[in-house]
Amino acid sequence: MSRIFIFDTTLRDGEQVPGCQLNTIEKIQVAQALENLGVDVIEAGFPVSSPGDFNSVVEISKAVTWPTICALTRAVEKDIDVAADSLKYAKHKRIHTGIGTSPYHIQYKFNSTQEEILERAIACVKYAKKYVEDVEFYCEDAGRADNIYLAKVVEAVIKAGATVVNIPDTTGYCLPHEYGDKIRFLKENVKNIDKAILSTHCHNDLGMATANTVSGVLNGARQVEVTVNGIGERAGNTSLEEVVMILRSHKEIGIDTNINTRNIYPVSRMVSSLMNMPVQPNKAIVGRNAFAHSSGIHQDGVLKNRESYEIIDPNDVGIDDNTIALTARSGRAALKHRLTVLGIELTQEKLDKLYEEFLMLADRKKDINDDDVLMLAGKDRAESQRIRLEYLQVTSGVGIRPVASIGLSIAGEKFEAAASGNGPVDAAIKALKQIIHRRMTIREFLIQAINKGSDDMGKVHMQVEHDGVNYYGFSANTDIIAASVEAYIDAINKFLK
Ligand code: KIV
Ligand code: ZN
Repeated sequence: MSRIFIFDTTLRDGEQVPGCQLNTIEKIQVAQALENLGVDVIEAGFPVSSPGDFNSVVEISKAVTWPTICALTRAVEKDIDVAADSLKYAKHKRIHTGIGTSPYHIQYKFNSTQEEILERAIACVKYAKKYVEDVEFYCEDAGRADNIYLAKVVEAVIKAGATVVNIPDTTGYCLPHEYGDKIRFLKENVKNIDKAILSTHCHNDLGMATANTVSGVLNGARQVEVTVNGIGERAGNTSLEEVVMILRSHKEIGIDTNINTRNIYPVSRMVSSLMNMPVQPNKAIVGRNAFAHSSGIHQDGVLKNRESYEIIDPNDVGIDDNTIALTARSGRAALKHRLTVLGIELTQEKLDKLYEEFLMLADRKKDINDDDVLMLAGKDRAESQRIRLEYLQVTSGVGIRPVASIGLSIAGEKFEAAASGNGPVDAAIKALKQIIHRRMTIREFLIQAINKGSDDMGKVHMQVEHDGVNYYGFSANTDIIAASVEAYIDAINKFLK
């Protein structure tokens, strides 16, 4: 069995999703979970892009031991200087630098020529090499680049010292056989190719990211760039769990990863919860319905022999059917165990506080599931916000006009207002707008029940436009009116800091 390297870019390409940004503490939490998952490389950020990104790379470098920590740059010396500085505490470090290689990038983005781009590619690798031994070069938009020119670039950057060469299908355009052929072409036509590893980096614009990545691996790539749950800009990146489980399920391929698959589900839940990014129910491997057999024929088959309809044992990806149900009678130890399974370690003080909130929720809701636990664990983020909901009272029903009264605390000062509206949410938002006089328009408003049952938690995602910019808010509550107002406040807190 040979091995491929898993390069996780959840914290860089994945985190570019609008409204899903994490703070440094959350990024450290995800990085540590990725380390426990067994990834080989963590792309921790693009340090020159902001002081926050720089700081996250510094802190992740301190918090993580085994994986290589990678920082992204453009083919610009200043970027490389900053990346090298951000990696100073990393035990294993890599600079990921590169430039566009397709006609679209060379001509329109850079107004340049193939020769000039080749020179810049060589120069940036040599410059990065002054700081670190491990330099990865990305040929941006390689998916649409001419293969002969691409081979020339790959050969030149390896000669300049690149240890890994990334062949991104930046726009998600390639067909699986086309992407595989590209990798094979490079393997067969770049004479120093044995001195570097070829890496895949596929986007999912046409729903082919995983297929393209696997095709790349079958044709000689030995590193795959992926994100948890396939998150990323637009339609996202290749999903880590899909590639790992394809290789694990198809042993005949003869290639495996270092991933501890039993951690896949907890990491998926953690990333989804911290980024407020729901996983679609039918998502392969980690979706809520991925192992749910609803038709009678399937249920009958699975009960007789699981393998009649299941190619993966849910336990192998960390979905534990036998988990102890959390209810109002569960003790701290059961809650602590569940948090640990979900990759969350809390101090005793925080655990005690969380337990109180857990008991209050359990009074309102019979069974507490993983989403509830993750939501409670993330609640202290809301408590440090500038604007907080103190109380909300709404009267609504049939034949009456809904009325809401609201109490807010803004930087510690108390405000109250009341209003009526055409529904309870409308009334509550109108009351809130009497306190916060800003032009704000709701662009998206999504309410979802997490599981089933009238006592379930409702999750609310809201997109609020202010001064031409969209801000994203999220909340979860058994009261969906309260969750809607909290999500609205969460979005406002992003611009009224
Ligand atoms: O998609 C892409 O081309 C990238 C590069 C910056 C690696 O994310
Ligand atoms: Zn990308």
